[in-house]
Amino acid sequence: MAIREILRLGNPKLRQKARALDPVELKSEQMKKLLGDMYDTMHSSKGIGLAAPQIGELLQIALIEIGENNPRYPQARKSESYVLVNPKITILDDQTQEFWEGCLSIPGLRGRVSRPRKIKVNFLDDQGNPSELIVEDFLATVFQHEIDHLNGVLYVDKLVSSLDFGFSEELDEQLK
Ligand code: NI
Repeated sequence: MAIREILRLGNPKLRQKARALDPVELKSEQMKKLLGDMYDTMHSSKGIGLAAPQIGELLQIALIEIGENNPRYPQARKSESYVLVNPKITILDDQTQEFWEGCLSIPGLRGRVSRPRKIKVNFLDDQGNPSELIVEDFLATVFQHEIDHLNGVLYVDKLVSSLDFGFSEELDEQLK
């Protein structure tokens, strides 16, 4: 497995739609290696999620894993590790919530984004089995952020206000 380069804002691949995978494709060695690379890359960058297009693979695969005491999101509660293939979102609660989001493809910056607070996600797991999950609160935001990547959408497209956007170091300074 290997740590891959993370594409940054401005790279056109981040703006393309990723293609869906066939369950049979998931069983290939190539796909196992890709998933391993995605985990290695996410862990080495201290991310809580990573989508395949961020490492230049235009495939509908997203990882989400909030580790204990993540330095980028110290308030976030630890989560399980999720592999989402071909995910589809259904909004279960029209009520929205706002969180500060960051992205490994937009290093050093953060912005406030409003999203539905509770969703259902239908997807294939890493074995190709159809699965369904209901997630809410911050985890629902993380799921939506990662799934947006598969459609070429980045959090900067959904900022509540351009005033609620800036470098993390500056924002932290203001909150002191
Ligand atoms: Ni991101």
